[in-house]
Amino acid sequence: MKFKSITGTKDILPAESFRWQYVERTFRELAHRYNFKEIRTPVFEQTELFARGIGELTDIVGKEMYTFRDRSENSLTLKPEMTAAVIRAYLQHNLGQQQPVTKVYYLAPMFRQERPQKGRLRQFHQFGLEVIGSHQPEADAEIIAMTAEYYKALGITQADLKINSVGCEKCRPAYKEKLKEFLRPNLPHLSEESQRRFESNPLRILDSKDERDRELTDAAPLQKDNLCEECNEHFIRLQELLSETGVSYTVDGRIVRGLDYYTKTAFEFISSALGSQDALSGGGRYDLLAKELGGKDVPGVGVAGGLERLLLVLEASDLMKDSDRKPVVYLAAADNESRTWLYGVTQQLRRADISCDTDLLRRSLKAQMREASRQLVQFTIIAGTGERDRNEVTVKNMETGEQQPIPVGDLAHYINQQLSDNGNDGEKS
Ligand code: HAM
Repeated sequence: MKFKSITGTKDILPAESFRWQYVERTFRELAHRYNFKEIRTPVFEQTELFARGIGELTDIVGKEMYTFRDRSENSLTLKPEMTAAVIRAYLQHNLGQQQPVTKVYYLAPMFRQERPQKGRLRQFHQFGLEVIGSHQPEADAEIIAMTAEYYKALGITQADLKINSVGCEKCRPAYKEKLKEFLRPNLPHLSEESQRRFESNPLRILDSKDERDRELTDAAPLQKDNLCEECNEHFIRLQELLSETGVSYTVDGRIVRGLDYYTKTAFEFISSALGSQDALSGGGRYDLLAKELGGKDVPGVGVAGGLERLLLVLEASDLMKDSDRKPVVYLAAADNESRTWLYGVTQQLRRADISCDTDLLRRSLKAQMREASRQLVQFTIIAGTGERDRNEVTVKNMETGEQQPIPVGDLAHYINQQLSDNGNDGEKS
């Protein structure tokens, strides 16, 4: 075949989509328990929204965005992340007017032209949460606590939370100078990438993966030890809130994140089950973002996590509790004359909330029985012209092999009765 999916993108095939539905359903249910409401924004936005929001000098904006011109020469970009888009929507629709704090969640595909590897794709999917409108550390705690709870609900124990404070516009400039002073004598020995970052974004040198950079920055001053009073107080309160809610964490002064909009809190959930792309999720506070986008001065804090990485952890740890849903009933026609009539019975059962399948290939009864076994249904319904004339069907219990004639009018009730007797009506549909 001539066509293949694009490098770095993946098909989610029918045999695995139940896994996605499971992690998405668990996330939605939990988000509603925390009173977050869903937000959906378009897949593409003006390029400038991300350039300004995420930062011109970040890797995402500098080399990873899918940017194109439409027929009217507008520069558009497939969203590489949601936060800038959510704030754009928040400002555009004045969501803050309806309530003082806006809590939203999303499940959406994102696009970044990175080098594909395990846990790193070009189209990937994120779950995310944003709390907009509060400066207080309780909002940060709400985001982190729900993320921790989500991993717990899925059975993931290997998700280590690392938190940091990256300061604010008051304390960061002085710290930046201090860090640069520390780095300057060793500047020629740092990796090329870190040398490039020295002027533009020296904080990112601290999370370099380069071994030598790590050694050279071992004793570097950290922002968390150089916070202004306000940031320090915020960071301490957040830690108290996390301890109070039983969320375990470590403070790691090297968590600086790859997006420029963070102030105060920055955090990541790391999983050792993931290899080099070990960030299950990450987030933080972005009090200056709305203003940067030309809007009001509105604080915010949020998180986003990769669903592909989450599924990798669940599979590696054998934690996939959910299973694929199977039809409960297969309807097999004994002859062609009864097929049309049996198709009507099939629809009746479906309307009665019973999941069923039937033959779409006009196969022989024997082949249909084989299909019923392959689909692992609990009941097979068999009918020929004789049954049709009596308006009844034969119900075969696939586990016991027992067969029973049942009038069509009683069929749905009979199946439901059998299912609840077996204690598995939860799997009905
Ligand atoms: P981020 O750290 O760029 O933050 O991405 C969040 C998560 O998305 C990562 O921890 C990872 O699990 C997943 N992810 C990122 N890139 C890829 C990729 N190429 N392939 C697979 N998974 C990936 C943000 O996006 C911020 N918007 C988070 C945030 C929300 N901050 C505040 N609110």
